[in-house]
Amino acid sequence: MKLILLALSAVLIVSQQVPPVPSTPDGFVYGPPVTTNYTLDVFFDHLCSYSAQAFPGLYLYWSNNQHWLRMVVHIVPLPYHYYSFYVSRAGRFIQTNYPANFTEYMSWMFNHQSKYLDTAQGWNQTTLYQNLAADTQTATGVNSTLVMSSFNDTSYNYNLRLSWKYAQSKGISGTPMYMVNGVLVPAASGFTKYQDWQNFFNSLN
Ligand SMILES: *[C@@H]1O[C@H](CO)[C@@H](O)[C@H](O)[C@H]1NC(C)=O
Ligand SMILES: *[C@@H]1O[C@H](CO)[C@@H](O)[C@H](O)[C@H]1NC(C)=O
Ligand SMILES: *[C@@H]1O[C@H](CO)[C@@H](O)[C@H](O)[C@H]1NC(C)=O
Ligand SMILES: *[C@@H]1O[C@H](CO)[C@@H](O)[C@H](O)[C@H]1NC(C)=O
Ligand SMILES: *[C@@H]1O[C@H](CO)[C@@H](O)[C@H](O)[C@H]1NC(C)=O
Repeated sequence: MKLILLALSAVLIVSQQVPPVPSTPDGFVYGPPVTTNYTLDVFFDHLCSYSAQAFPGLYLYWSNNQHWLRMVVHIVPLPYHYYSFYVSRAGRFIQTNYPANFTEYMSWMFNHQSKYLDTAQGWNQTTLYQNLAADTQTATGVNSTLVMSSFNDTSYNYNLRLSWKYAQSKGISGTPMYMVNGVLVPAASGFTKYQDWQNFFNSLN
């Protein structure tokens, strides 16, 4: 009996797939080092309309408070946004190699979501890659040839999977979701305005 249980728990552990330890902490960091008073972990999907609505107000709030507010953006490609994983792969390429241009990429995708949610449904794989590379160049200025090559580099794909696993391991079930100093703040998922963030952080004092 004990042996059976042991064997079963071994199977369970394997099938649970504990996320591997990433080579650096997950997410794209804005602002001061980790020793500051507040770190805001942001979980966004490039193709989520609520993430798109939330971003401008949040970004402005962060810009005005960046001397103390550390913001870490985690990308969570949601499976029901059909091409989100592809969009996130191009995003990961930019994040890794052109970090100064990642915010532009995020904004561009937030402003053109319907192209990858709807129009792209009629494209084949080649057209998808070509348009994504061209749009990435439009958004960031990074040569589309380099973006095309990045689709053949499995490291971006792999690192994005690790990000997805990381978010799942934190109980992130949708976007946008937020953690403040490591604690989930469900109410913040409804924030769309600068004032929402201001009221929230003021309330912590
Ligand atoms: C993909 O779609 C494009 C544009 O419609 C077309 O020119 C191309 O031949 C298609 N490629 C494949 C492999 O079907
Ligand atoms: C990336 O962003 C920087 C800073 O905004 C800008 O100077 C540069 O032209 C952009 N494009 C590339 C390809 O680096
Ligand atoms: C992008 O890179 C390719 C290959 O290196 C080059 O032929 C092309 O002119 C570049 N395009 C732009 C817009 O810089
Ligand atoms: C990517 O790989 C495919 C298949 O191996 C190849 O046909 C294509 O030319 C490669 N693209 C780039 C941009 O390296
Ligand atoms: C965090 O600390 C900075 C500087 O010490 C302060 O200006 C800011 O108001 C603090 N943030 C909050 C939400 O208390």
